[in-house]
Amino acid sequence: NHQAHYISRQRFSAELSKCLFDFVIQLLPTPEELAVKEDVRKLLERLIRTIEPNSRLLSFGSTANGFSLRNSDMDLCCLIDSGERLSATDLVTMLGDLLNRETKFHVKPLPHARIPIVKLSLDPSPGLPLGIACDIGFENRLALENTRLLMCYAMIDPTRVRTMVLFLKVWSKRRKINSPYKGTLSSYGYVLLVIYFLVHVKNPPVLPNLQMLPPLRPISEEDTHLNGHNIWFFDDIELLSTRWHSENTESIAELLTDFFRYFSKEFLYNTGVASIREGLLTKESKGWQNDLSSAGYNDSRERNRFCIEDPFEVDFNVSRCVTRDGLYTIRGEFMRAGRILAGRPERALLALSQLCE
Ligand code: GTP
Ligand code: MG
Repeated sequence: NHQAHYISRQRFSAELSKCLFDFVIQLLPTPEELAVKEDVRKLLERLIRTIEPNSRLLSFGSTANGFSLRNSDMDLCCLIDSGERLSATDLVTMLGDLLNRETKFHVKPLPHARIPIVKLSLDPSPGLPLGIACDIGFENRLALENTRLLMCYAMIDPTRVRTMVLFLKVWSKRRKINSPYKGTLSSYGYVLLVIYFLVHVKNPPVLPNLQMLPPLRPISEEDTHLNGHNIWFFDDIELLSTRWHSENTESIAELLTDFFRYFSKEFLYNTGVASIREGLLTKESKGWQNDLSSAGYNDSRERNRFCIEDPFEVDFNVSRCVTRDGLYTIRGEFMRAGRILAGRPERALLALSQLCE
């Protein structure tokens, strides 16, 4: 009986893994969509160069890290290589005017935001049934580096890592727990949770800790630091594959089920910090206790309810926007998802559609 149960469980898990894989494949952007986005990037780059001839416009976020879903927005970053620099505020204002004059984009410059950006959108058209949304920021080199780090993690085990991440992104969007503005977690936050789980929770680990592997050759301080942040990580994934491989053979479904179990029951939300650089840390060691006394009476946005350390900006809590209610909702969703996956529905597909209802 035990064995029969085990075999049926294995079969369910294999079937569910296949379904998860097929499910995310059909949500990937089409080659046409990627081509249109690249054209948009080039067009915008040409226009920006009329203001700043030495600038480059680079993609970051999901369009660049391999975790992109169909119709996801574009994150672009303008780097200025040399010469007299305009301030980000002036650039945003000038670029806003220029794009308004020269293009069909709806343009919204935010020159006085904490990080000045220009927001753009394009209405749906036959080639682009859902339009395009795009943010252009300036000199955000850390974002380019963390994009590269996530991309490297995806490359190490594309099937398991990408399927898990993409599934969590779709699931969190459908369950409406993917809006930092409404007190829940950004996509970036969910991706960091998956990597934290695969590097530090799973034993044997599914992924190595790229920031802690020994470098191949000595590297100087200036090569590894950007604005005081250590941005070094092992990025030669081809070479890595000759030296490191995971002993972990769990399927996508098993990993995902365990991910939901871990983040509904085990993770120490009150005292713990998820760090992909160092594993589980304490709020106390980082000075990130939830300070309920200093949060105003009506301020449900105490910043450290949920703590995820940025891989490079280690003083920065990526989930600082998560409110008490937001965290309660997220954990409730983790539990619901874990329950659905751990039960034994007749068919895997049913479980999946239930999950993303
Ligand atoms: P979708 O837009 O939902 O497809 O997801 P995404 O992968 O593009 O993630 P998101 O839009 O949340 O973030 C885009 C990029 O911005 C990330 O890859 C990071 O490089 C950067 N980013 C987003 N949020 C933060 C943050 O809180 N801190 C830092 N340092 N970078 C962030
Ligand atoms: Mg994005």
